[in-house]
Amino acid sequence: MNTSQRLQQTINDMVDDHRGILAADESEPTIKKRFATINLESTEENRRAYRSLLLETPGLGDFISGVILFEETLGQKNAVGTLLAEVAWNQKIVPGIKVDKGTEKLVGSSGDLITKGLDGLADRLITYIEKGARFAKWREVYSITATNPTQLSLHANAEKLAHYAATCQELGVVPIVEPEVLMDGDHDIDRCEEVTEQVLYAVFKALLQYGVTLEHMILKPNMVLPGKDCRTADPDEIAEATIRVFRRAVPAAVPSINFLSGGQSPEEATVNLNTINQIGGPWQLSISYGRALQQPVLKAWQGNIENIEAAEIALLKRARLNSLARQGHYKPNLETD
Ligand code: 13P
Repeated sequence: MNTSQRLQQTINDMVDDHRGILAADESEPTIKKRFATINLESTEENRRAYRSLLLETPGLGDFISGVILFEETLGQKNAVGTLLAEVAWNQKIVPGIKVDKGTEKLVGSSGDLITKGLDGLADRLITYIEKGARFAKWREVYSITATNPTQLSLHANAEKLAHYAATCQELGVVPIVEPEVLMDGDHDIDRCEEVTEQVLYAVFKALLQYGVTLEHMILKPNMVLPGKDCRTADPDEIAEATIRVFRRAVPAAVPSINFLSGGQSPEEATVNLNTINQIGGPWQLSISYGRALQQPVLKAWQGNIENIEAAEIALLKRARLNSLARQGHYKPNLETD
């Protein structure tokens, strides 16, 4: 297979009309925070046990088509010595890898961030491919204030995403492009809509400049939501604003839009996905949830081997409900069925 055929094969294996992506790529500081919610120490063994549990959940591959892993996980094995990337693929879940190295202050702006990790990226990707990764993920974050994100931030963050995506595609790795407009703040939904639209215009302009093939990438954006400290919006308002922005800014050539959950509760993230899919668009509209899939799993597991089955049931439930939601077939009463 040549590079373009490899990219297309990965898209075919990841994009369909009923499955989504599990984000399990928490960096060490982030997984430490997640484990702290169940009073569990973040040791290598606990991280290995937890991520084995996720990937060994029987039937997960019916609802999940890809999993984003953290670098450490690519080298880890389950209890019987099978590499976790292989465990995933045994369920037809394509393994991928977070390749960015977190954020730092963007020089020249006040209050904006920029993501690190382009240095040596091609070399790192080659080692990840050898370990089974077929797609990658890179996240840029944008905070909303009265003056942020600045024009400099829109431009500089988009350049990084495009440079990353082009590097991935040259090596036959499908890039997940993640521009995340954060929910923190008291801005209203209109302000989130305005910023998300500007972010996406800048990102697609840069992707085209870098020659990124839109058919061979996946977009991982935020939904258009009011800030956490603002009044809530109803799902219809959220879905209408989200689809309005995408119709303007995301070319139909992009095969799939896989939302991050961004701090929404698991139930909110599912309801909103459902309403978004009831409007629909020319792309698949699915998930790439981290917290909204994993919160109930951690709560059920508590780091205790005796709770593995309950944790797997919790994961399967959220994965199944989101599968229904990404087809527009979810109903809140299914939560208690
Ligand atoms: P959340 O769904 O928890 O926002 O995480 C998705 C992710 O991968 C953030 O980069």
